[in-house]
Amino acid sequence: MTAALTTTTAWQALKKHAQDTASLTLRALFDADTSRGERLSAEGAGLYLDYSKNRVTDETLTLLLDLARETGVAAKRDAMFAGEKINVTEGRAVLHTALRAPDGAGVTVDGHNVIPDVHEVLNRMAAFADQVRAGTWLGYTGRPLKNIVNIGIGGSDLGPVMAYEALKHYAQRDLTLRFVSNVDGTDLVEKTRDLDPAETLVIVSSKTFTTQETMANARSARAWLLGALKDDAAVARHFVAVSTNAQAVQTFGIDTANMFGFWDWVGGRYSMDSAIGLSVMLAIGPDGFRDLLSGFHDMDEHFRSAPLEQNLPVLLGLLGIWYNNFFDAQSHAVLPYDQYLAYFPAYLQQLDMESNGKHITLDGQPVDYQTGPVIWGQPGTNGQHAFYQLIHQGTKLIPCDFIGFCQTLNPLPLEGGAPHHDLLMANVFAQTEALAFGKSLEQVLAEGVAPGLAPHRVFDGNRPTNTILVDRLTPRSLGALIALYEHKVFVQGAVWNINSFDQWGVELGKVLAGKIVPELATGTEPDLEHDSSTNTLIRRYRARR
Ligand code: F6P
Repeated sequence: MTAALTTTTAWQALKKHAQDTASLTLRALFDADTSRGERLSAEGAGLYLDYSKNRVTDETLTLLLDLARETGVAAKRDAMFAGEKINVTEGRAVLHTALRAPDGAGVTVDGHNVIPDVHEVLNRMAAFADQVRAGTWLGYTGRPLKNIVNIGIGGSDLGPVMAYEALKHYAQRDLTLRFVSNVDGTDLVEKTRDLDPAETLVIVSSKTFTTQETMANARSARAWLLGALKDDAAVARHFVAVSTNAQAVQTFGIDTANMFGFWDWVGGRYSMDSAIGLSVMLAIGPDGFRDLLSGFHDMDEHFRSAPLEQNLPVLLGLLGIWYNNFFDAQSHAVLPYDQYLAYFPAYLQQLDMESNGKHITLDGQPVDYQTGPVIWGQPGTNGQHAFYQLIHQGTKLIPCDFIGFCQTLNPLPLEGGAPHHDLLMANVFAQTEALAFGKSLEQVLAEGVAPGLAPHRVFDGNRPTNTILVDRLTPRSLGALIALYEHKVFVQGAVWNINSFDQWGVELGKVLAGKIVPELATGTEPDLEHDSSTNTLIRRYRARR
């Protein structure tokens, strides 16, 4: 058993340091060091991180880095990259980094080099995508397919939909993409109501090919298709599968020639750069998809080789731990200032919360410290007119990541005013400045505000933010950004000594739902063996549906 985290020297030192520096303000830190804004920054894989607006001194950073060293973050990282079976509760390697390793690299699992397999699937995906995009892959009635419906949930949905939305600028615009995930029939019905089945390709994306929601949607999509095309043979032209489970794909009725595989060493929430990204490749093309993979790889290399004190994922991870474990911050907001990144916070919710929402250590012991925070957010500037009030003046400490791009993909000059993009970016800089430095009572009073009103108009400031600045949103920079967060999550899980790669917490609800489904069936009156609340709800539902 490894030493308990809270008894490590670094943890104890951080605890004391947090007490000693509790009254430090960002204002004082910046006043004391005029170069702080340049000094506390780092760059990697084309991303610039300004972490100066954090409540840290040089000593804080040293102690946090000591914590990373004492908890063996670098060795754990190297074990992941080397294909060791670090997902101990499932006995699996964790090798999403192999999905973006260049052809010719070598990464072995059980003595087998997986890189040729990765590139074989990528090449098959590219050949298929080229045909669909060129209109030479014909549907059952001989028409090209111009609608693509991805059916999947969790990691088989959130990554593809996020990346498709993020990279829409680069997409082939005569293709219509839709993403169906919810078992609520509304999702499938609304997303297919204006599509012609004869021109639609359905991608059933499921690592296991057993997930209830995805299988239900896939069956209903097949019924929708066959309702129009009236011949089972149409399925072969209109359905492809992405999965690790060839047997289940075949049983469903999809020819395994139309299946794109991946492997058990790819976790669902880390799978968007595997064949699960087929819909993204169809949208942006094989070259764009390879650029995306290159961006992931750039960040992998940075994470692997940059010194810890300049290592972006390490810095973000440690700063998160600082607030999570020493300031009792419960949540972390991610605020992309780019409309294309609208789905990024939702994607990060699964990535982070399914990975680090754990309370048992790798040694099987309950933790006596906080683990993963609640992740939330939405694009700026919209959030400013919704929830930022609480971040500025509420009672909770909410560390935030602001993400902005120096160049816009949609330059829109505004007659008689600043261009849209300057308006957008001015808000990034203004928000982080306001959160850090606030506005004192003296300043408010000096503005002539009535003393009775003045306290309401005070901003305490001292609210921490990171700013990530990227030159331009491209497939490559998006890949780097996603990998930054993947590895940040890794660093935190490594320090907390938890398994970031299993997800047993989703099981119980799934099992209970499976038990309840037959109890809801029309005309049955089984003995309900739940608690009185669940029984009453089920009876009321059955009586009134
Ligand atoms: O939510 C649980 C989960 O297992 C996720 O980890 C996964 O991304 C999702 O379900 C979908 O699983 P599958 O790809 O096997 O359908």
